[in-house]
Amino acid sequence: SSDDESQASVKDIVPNYAFAFDIDGVLLKGGQVIPEAIQAMRYLNGENPDGVKVPYIFVTNGGGKTELERCRNLTEQLKVPVSPQQFICGHTPMREMAEQYNTVLVVGGEGEKCRHVAEGYGFKDVVTPGDIMKWKASVTPFRTLTDEEYRNSRDRDFDNINIDAIFVFADSRHWGDDSQIIIDLLMSKNGRFNTISKTFDEGPPLYFSHNDIVWATNHEQNRFGMGALRVMIEALFKQHTGKELTKVTSFGKPQIGTFKYATRVLEQWRKDVFDAEGPPQTVYFVGDTPESDIKGTNLYDDHVDEEWYSILVKTGVWQPNTEPRHQPRAIVNTVLDAVKHGMERSR
Ligand code: G3P
Ligand code: MG
Repeated sequence: SSDDESQASVKDIVPNYAFAFDIDGVLLKGGQVIPEAIQAMRYLNGENPDGVKVPYIFVTNGGGKTELERCRNLTEQLKVPVSPQQFICGHTPMREMAEQYNTVLVVGGEGEKCRHVAEGYGFKDVVTPGDIMKWKASVTPFRTLTDEEYRNSRDRDFDNINIDAIFVFADSRHWGDDSQIIIDLLMSKNGRFNTISKTFDEGPPLYFSHNDIVWATNHEQNRFGMGALRVMIEALFKQHTGKELTKVTSFGKPQIGTFKYATRVLEQWRKDVFDAEGPPQTVYFVGDTPESDIKGTNLYDDHVDEEWYSILVKTGVWQPNTEPRHQPRAIVNTVLDAVKHGMERSR
């Protein structure tokens, strides 16, 4: 790998353990860096009593921009280079589905960003809710596209297009309008607008990049996330059709698939940057959300030979005076304490 990668030039002693970090509520809050996160990165990069350098990766449910753009932001915030090769976000595993579908609706995020992410993953024909509103403004009676949105949206004839799958890449900025469009398609025959299935099971599959009901921002209390939108869509679909929504899937943590993916990323990172073969014996996963980070890490630990050790911090979603729904192996104040705890334990 190239010299500008965070952990390059570290080919001496490779520890048999590694770290994986959640981002929101652990390293950042409302886009602002948590100060201990900067210290934690320094600690892992050799500023510790043994002078040892420890491999680490980032596994966030968040998304909405390309992995490269996100890593550039993180590099600035954490004051240590972060490479896309050590980074997984909620929609990263969706790239493996690009071949499977022709036309897909991509929902969420700012402006055209998620369309570009999806096209970068190799999805062949990516449409957005904006394209649909531009085609027929009456689809969403309470919203008019801004001039900029109108300009960026594409001219398509949805009378003659089948949408093969729906992907919620990042948090919706317009829950009402996006839900209307998603449910229209879920109720349709083969993803064709203005058709209605008699059986309500002919619509396209719906994928979410994660399932977090809430997440930690700079607001005092946790805020609704993508998992809440899923609950709302499922409830509306049921109310409206009398049927359960079946073809719906969430990626991200706590899904085992995400942790498998993380293992591959970590193995490759250790190989490229540390010259080490195979996975480390122990992975310390540092997270703030029991339902995603801790649940997923514990499940995965039961599933593989290596040890996946969950550490819960107090800086995010979990409220310290409550019982976590999934028990971590350790609870600490901040990400810096988590790093010290793991390194001490593996010493
Ligand atoms: O939308 C992001 C949020 O739900 C979780 O991000 O980094 O805590 O997995 P993270
Ligand atoms: Mg988090």
